Formats: sequence, structure tokens, C-alpha cells
Amino acid sequence: MDTVRIGIVGSKFAADFHCDSYSRNPHVRLAAVAAIDNLEPISRKWNIPATYQDYRQMFAREDLDLVSICIPNFLHHDAVIAASEAGIDVVCEKPLATTVADAREMIEVCRKNRTRLFYAEDWCFSPTMRRIDALIKEGAIGEILYIKAKEVHSGTHSPFARDKRTCGGGSLLHLGVHPVGYLLYLVGKGANPVVEVTGKITGGLEKNFVHRENSGEDFGMGMLRFENGTFGFVEGNYITLGGMDDKVEIYGTGGVIKADLTHSSSIDLYSPEGVSYTIEKLDHNKGWLKPAVDEYYNLGYVSELAYFVDCARLDQDPFYGVNGEAGAACLEIVHAMYESSDTGRTIYGRWM
Ligand SMILES: NC(=O)c1ccc[n+]([C@@H]2O[C@H](COP(=O)([O-])OP(=O)(O)OC[C@H]3O[C@@H](n4cnc5c(N)ncnc54)[C@H](O)[C@@H]3O)[C@@H](O)[C@H]2O)c1
Repeated sequence: MDTVRIGIVGSKFAADFHCDSYSRNPHVRLAAVAAIDNLEPISRKWNIPATYQDYRQMFAREDLDLVSICIPNFLHHDAVIAASEAGIDVVCEKPLATTVADAREMIEVCRKNRTRLFYAEDWCFSPTMRRIDALIKEGAIGEILYIKAKEVHSGTHSPFARDKRTCGGGSLLHLGVHPVGYLLYLVGKGANPVVEVTGKITGGLEKNFVHRENSGEDFGMGMLRFENGTFGFVEGNYITLGGMDDKVEIYGTGGVIKADLTHSSSIDLYSPEGVSYTIEKLDHNKGWLKPAVDEYYNLGYVSELAYFVDCARLDQDPFYGVNGEAGAACLEIVHAMYESSDTGRTIYGRWM
């Protein structure tokens, strides 16, 4: 197939960067979008010919090859299953689901229907991470001993992510799932399971540091140990002012790699008057600034969605890290971190 016909479920933040990434791809036709609001603005911005209030109608009426699920976490399960039952390959935004049982059912239904399930962990496609992959392969830092990684910012834009019932957790799930996914991809590789997990979170509502209106935690950290002995430390929090901060440090037997995905633009701007936008979740765009050159490309979205389009087009399955299994393992690990925080105990298992 030369042209992949795409449907988008959702119409706001994530839907917009999916549309942006698809619109850069010569093999894509954005065919339809379904959501409960914001349909007119998104269809106009990205020139999408058909709009639907109900994604099931979109799946039934449109001839789609691939659909992007960009709606709140608690709706991923039903939307992925509906797409798969309609015979469509699915890209599911992170986290894969809100419960492990839902995630496992999504994998099973897609397997039964022979439709592909792509787990949208964009970190695996960031040009920075791709370069790190190549450096590690070349032997630049020897064997990996320890990785420290985080995604943190000052608070979510989405009302669904503030509510534990619609998010499935708080900042550790919603943001920390990125570093967990990256560690599984880089160290786990689908062969070296995580065997030990501990975690600590603020706990939601009045227990939170800052966001007492959020029922999920606003601060979370977790430690994990892989079967081969490698340690990981991950963070996901909403207490970090100054723009989204995504950082990775990798310590090996023969060297160290440090990377900054969000604050490392090659542009230095001084503007006392200020500008409208520089990087995600930076509220005061005045003074000395580092505007992202191409934020969606830097974060990996553009290459990620191009890869999923190629898989659908060329009839190929995704690599470990961005398949359903990796998405489910991320969820299990974050849930083990929650259990550890609740009980004060180390949780043992085999997650990959
Ligand atoms: N990979 C990333 O870095 C990244 C970044 C942001 C969001 N996300 C993920 O994308 C998903 C959406 O997040 P967002 O930030 O765009 O949220 P948002 O609050 O900005 O938008 C929610 C969207 O869901 C739609 N919606 C709500 N209920 C619906 C229903 N019943 N049927 C159809 N549509 C419905 C709304 O119309 C809206 O378009 C979440 O799973 C989130 O975790 C991923």
C-alpha cells in the first residue's frame, strides 16, 4: 500500500502533534477525526475532510488503515478494541491503559483480530536517543550499570490527567511511564526482565506537594533492577517549574552519557518583551530563552509516527519497546511502584 488512510481519535493536545507528524509524511492521508469537542478547529487546521462525534461510527463508515488513539487514558481500552474489531491497526498513546487487565485484553483482542497494536513511546524515536543508541552500540560507555531518567513539569494541561479515575494514577504514571518505557527498550530489550521495583509518591489530594486538586500524586519516583543487575531510577512529577524537563543519564563501565531532550536548543534568544512560545509547559517566555527548533521532531513524535505508518504500509510488526507487550510491562512496573509506595516494601516479579 502506498498511501495509509489515517483516522484520529481525539482533537486536542496529543491529536494535534499526531496530525502535525502525519502531515509531514508523503505516505499519509488524514481521512477523518472523531472526538467529543474541538472538531471544527482541528479539522480546519489539518484539512481533515470528515468529522465524527463517535469514533465507532468513524471506524464503521471510513475506510481506514491506521488509527491514532489520542483520548484520555481510561478510554484507550474501549477505543483500541473497537478499532481492532473493525480490522484497523492502532497507535495507542501512553499509558497503554489504566489497568493491567485492560492492557492484557487489548493485546489479546489485537492478536486475535490480526491487527497491529503500536505503543506510542516517542522517547524511543527521539533523534537524541537514536544517537545514544548508536554510541552505546559502538561501545562508547561499555556495559550499562545505571540509568537515571525523568520527565517532569509544572502540571498537566488535561483535566482528565488530574483525576486518578480517568488517568489511572498521577504524575508517576502519566509522565514517569516515558522513562520506564525507555529503560525497558534500552536495557530490557524484551529479554532482560525487571525483577525488583520500589517506589515513593506523594499520594494525591491533600498529600500532594502542590496540586492538591489532583486526585493522583504530583510527585513520584521509582527504582528498578533488571535481571542482569542494571539499576534504574525514574521520576515523574508536576512540581518542576521552568518548562518540561526530560533528562537521561547513563553510567557505563567505560563512560557516561548525559542527555537533555527539552532544554538543549541550539537557539539562545534574549527577549525582554517576550514571545508566545518556546518549549512545552514554560509559562514565562521572557528574558533569556532557548526556543525549541522543532519540538515534535526532538521529542520523537515525527519519526515514531512515520515508523508506525511504514509498519502498516509494509505489513511489519513493531520492535520491542513500542509494541503492546512493552506498553503493558510499563503499566505493570508503575503499578508495582505504587504498591511499593503503599506498603513500604520492595516488589519482586518478572516484567518485560
Ligand atoms: N506521548 C506524549 O508525550 C503525550 C503527550 C500528551 C498526551 N499524551 C496522551 O494522549 C492522550 C490524550 O491526551 P491529551 O493531552 O491530548 O488530552 P486533552 O485533554 O488535551 O484532550 C482529550 C481529548 O479526548 C477527547 N475525548 C474525551 N472523551 C472522549 C470520548 N468519549 N470519545 C472521543 N473523544 C473523547 C476530547 O475531545 C479531547 O480531544 C492521553 O492518553 C495522554 O497520556 C501523550
